[in-house]
Amino acid sequence: MTATANDLDWWRNAVVYQVYIRSFADGNGDGTGDLAGLRGKLDHIARLGVDAIWINPWYPSPLADGGYDVADYRAINPMFGDTAQAEALIAEAHRRGIRVLLDIVPNHHSDEHAWFRQALAAGPGSPERDRYVFRDGRGPDGARPPNNWESMFGGPAWERVPDGQWYLHLFDVKQPDVNWDNAEVRADFEQTLRFWFDRGVDGFRIDVANAMVKQPGLPDVVPGVNDVQDGGHPYLDREGVHEVYRSWRAIGDSYDPPKVFVAEAWVPDPERLARYLRPDELQTAFSFNFLTAAWLADDLRRNIDDALAENAAVGAPATWVLSNHDVCRHPSRLSRKPETGRGWNLDDVLDLPADPELGLRRARAATLLMLALPGTAYLYQGEEFGLPEVEDIPAERLDDPTWELSGHTERGRDGCRVPLPWAAEEPAFGFSAGAAAEPWLPQPDVFARHAADVQEAAPDSVLHLYRDALAIRRAHPALGGGELTWQDSPEGTLALSRISDGGEGGFTALVNVSSAPVSLPEDAEVLLASGSLTPRDELPADTTVWLRH
Ligand code: NOJ
Repeated sequence: MTATANDLDWWRNAVVYQVYIRSFADGNGDGTGDLAGLRGKLDHIARLGVDAIWINPWYPSPLADGGYDVADYRAINPMFGDTAQAEALIAEAHRRGIRVLLDIVPNHHSDEHAWFRQALAAGPGSPERDRYVFRDGRGPDGARPPNNWESMFGGPAWERVPDGQWYLHLFDVKQPDVNWDNAEVRADFEQTLRFWFDRGVDGFRIDVANAMVKQPGLPDVVPGVNDVQDGGHPYLDREGVHEVYRSWRAIGDSYDPPKVFVAEAWVPDPERLARYLRPDELQTAFSFNFLTAAWLADDLRRNIDDALAENAAVGAPATWVLSNHDVCRHPSRLSRKPETGRGWNLDDVLDLPADPELGLRRARAATLLMLALPGTAYLYQGEEFGLPEVEDIPAERLDDPTWELSGHTERGRDGCRVPLPWAAEEPAFGFSAGAAAEPWLPQPDVFARHAADVQEAAPDSVLHLYRDALAIRRAHPALGGGELTWQDSPEGTLALSRISDGGEGGFTALVNVSSAPVSLPEDAEVLLASGSLTPRDELPADTTVWLRH
């Protein structure tokens, strides 16, 4: 892809579409999404009007954690295709003006990675083991784990191997943490970056970008002391990660045009998150506090302001997201009286009564709020169809390791990973080509209503709302990059005006997060609304309107 000077900063105000490849489109009819399926749907993505796609891990993997257990970082999972197909896909996306970001998983490997096999075979004290975090256990016979760290999916973060040593896995037992103090590990990840950059990939999303570096001596987590990530936590947000990103940035910058990174770092303090975005580190990082904000004007505004201010202090844009493959889809989150401030995953909200219509209304409003903010926005496949979370996948079909590791108390994240519905009347809603196998996760009947062809045919569908919003965002000079100014607005609402870097304004988004309709400002022209106005031309509750004035 050839770049103009303006193109170089594309990531400052891009809209990126996340492809969870397993569930996007199945080109070979085996019930699992793949590269051929994705390639066949590039027109859909192009018509949406996004700037880039981010593809979740597509590497060889036993899929113990949906591909975040990588067995070989420089190849393609045969289930999804091969390297030639990947190269063709990158080229074809580029031809349509769509950039391609991949996912890099630097905190852990799969236990089926060649290095881990070598580590097991080589035994304690070997250089092969030093690529991972092996330790002897505590207690006279070493039968207790080396420390009290817990897996993010539940249970201890240590697994004992037959010779008696233990290895660290902050995630699943099949995801051994690698040792970032080991020079070979660092060099190998750098080689992976170059491998894909050389094949035309435009950047990477970095998985658990705030983990990786561990405190020497691996001390216990001390409850009450290590509850926050302030640099003192033994494995989260430690100073050492920044040096890694400086070296990655230098590699990315050695390409023309430079490559781009986005950090997945659940670092709650926006000032600490912004440290990942200093000028010689990463360009962008998801502002997850916006995703987890309660559906309340004050909470939304505070989190938006904090992200903008802290990122601006280091010259970085904010990166907004409402849904991804780890969180309950936003229509379902917002259907649950989220003003209670409950968490972001299905298990946090499952016991609360849900109102799906209300959730979808709020989701449409939230999306127009997000797309009106300065910075970059990420969309998750299927949100353009208004897909809800699938909350009742039969237990025997659940695939997320959370289900087993929580002792069957948490269903986990499968509900947002269900294969997409493309055609309401076809088997598996058109997910698979030809006489297809059963999709890898079961689709609920309600998906018929959200299928791409049904959405296409309905002018007021979520799909049309997304297309219209993205078209306006591209064309309007005040949207994308630039400044945000809050206007006075009625209690429980947000009114934000935008001014472009060149000083052009004339755009306001009014978001009604209250429970009653509000009047629109006089002499404002409606560009787009997330729902119908009232008969008196007021903005109803849980609705956003974009105005030209
Ligand atoms: C974050 C990824 O998004 C998630 O899906 C995965 O389980 C963990 N990191 C571990 O890699």
